[in-house]
Amino acid sequence: MRLELRDITKRFPGVLANDRISISADRGKVLGMLGENGAGKTTLMNILSGLYKPDSGQIFIDETERTFGDPVAAIEAGVGMVHQHFMLVPVFDVVEAVALGAETTKDALGTFDRAAARKRIVELSERYKLDVDPDARIESLPVGVRQRVEILKALYRRSDILVLDEPSAVLTPYETEELYAIIRSLAADGTTIIFITHKLNEVLEVADDIVVLRRGRVAGTADPKTATRQELANMMVGRDVELIVPKGPAKPGEVVLSIEQLFVRDDRLEMAVNGVDLEVRAGEIVAVAGVQGNGQTELVEAITGLRTPDSGAISIGGKRTEKWGPRQVSNLGVAHIPEDRGRDGLISPMTIAENYILDTYHEAPYSRNGVLNLKVVRERAAQGVKDFDIRTPSIDTYAGALSGGNQQKVVVAREFSVPVQLVIAAQPTRGLDVGSIEYIHRRLVEQRDAGAAIVIVSTELDEVLAVGDRIAVMYAGRIVGILAGDDATYENLGLLMGGATYGEGTAA
Ligand SMILES: Nc1ncnc2c1ncn2[C@@H]1O[C@H](COP(=O)(O)OP(=O)(O)O)[C@@H](O)[C@H]1O
Ligand SMILES: [Mg+2]
Repeated sequence: MRLELRDITKRFPGVLANDRISISADRGKVLGMLGENGAGKTTLMNILSGLYKPDSGQIFIDETERTFGDPVAAIEAGVGMVHQHFMLVPVFDVVEAVALGAETTKDALGTFDRAAARKRIVELSERYKLDVDPDARIESLPVGVRQRVEILKALYRRSDILVLDEPSAVLTPYETEELYAIIRSLAADGTTIIFITHKLNEVLEVADDIVVLRRGRVAGTADPKTATRQELANMMVGRDVELIVPKGPAKPGEVVLSIEQLFVRDDRLEMAVNGVDLEVRAGEIVAVAGVQGNGQTELVEAITGLRTPDSGAISIGGKRTEKWGPRQVSNLGVAHIPEDRGRDGLISPMTIAENYILDTYHEAPYSRNGVLNLKVVRERAAQGVKDFDIRTPSIDTYAGALSGGNQQKVVVAREFSVPVQLVIAAQPTRGLDVGSIEYIHRRLVEQRDAGAAIVIVSTELDEVLAVGDRIAVMYAGRIVGILAGDDATYENLGLLMGGATYGEGTAA
């Protein structure tokens, strides 16, 4: 069905989330909706799916105006939505999760005809290669399969318009490819699809048309056949952004970090790091790529002193550190940008100034003879805010009140406020907008050029390819390959990330 949203406006207290947004999508086409965090994408789709009422504006389906008072009305009109955060009941099996609540499952007495429901689910699953076991319990399914159950649920309700809100956020590169195939076959069968993302490659790959939202408005439209990543990024951010981090060739110096035959157990005492050898030199960025959960977290924890290895050696600047704690490691001049800034990086109910001196408040220049020098603290924090372009009303604002990008800038500003010889950055740009990503990458390159050794652990291939002078791929606790940045591609990295051996003719 053809979908048209006309002049949709939606205001929340203090925020104009949607400002006269007009978009349209034709039957059987994929409309890619691109925009940074907070651009208004989810709000617009919540209006389409009847969760929110617009303040003004109109919805047309096949040229007929529709108003949805609630989600049921939207579903009846053929709109299905796969939310950013899934809403399946964990203890249900697939048949129950998909069919319950859909009226077609009831006979005259209102009983649930499981056999009939199961049959239709199997048919749909086969037709669109969703590969879902109808009898599996939801809680036993990996997240990628749960997402396909959500798609099944929409199809089961005969959705002709399917909205996918940031579907790839929870998928591996391979699962994302599978999702593209599903989307293409749905579109070929006449389903109109709205595919929401903040990733440039994805809209270029899967969309027939692209609309870009920025700050609640349509910033522009683009044709994926001719649009470039650069144009789309500029449209998203509203200024020229550097997608490719400007960086010259690395000038590697002495070995700063040396890891030999490292074995580290995870919280369940299973061996998560399984014999890693790695050297990182001053003046180079080594990116550690891999699908989440292949030992990267435990590797970082071991290097930064948060987790004691089972065996093996870690040397930083020539000192053996594998038995050291985090403070000792940090005192060697090791900056740690943690994976979970909400948990390890910042204390939300403390101010920016307080967070700024979290690790160093007991040292000069912040303290002398155990007395905190507030004036210096405030001066330095204010300087950090300025240098790192942290958007905040003041240094007395609580860290928890900042946007994700600005929180991450506080962490990076603090970590780089003292001289460092080694930087360990774990998922340093996860969840950030393009502008903040650019900013953080530039700062990491700056540290490299000032002579630090840099390790960036990332599941994002774009990030790994943008910043890595060398790229090490981790799989099942081992480093299965190291490529020069110039030799790395989506293809060879993707293969290594899936556990294939690259370059030995065995990759399939
Ligand atoms: N239920 C809500 N109440 C108040 N503000 C909201 C609500 N939902 C979204 N917003 C605000 O509206 C803006 C757009 O958010 P959203 O539509 O979620 O953006 P996107 O999906 O593009 O990241 C943001 O500033 C967000 O904080
Ligand atoms: Mg959203």
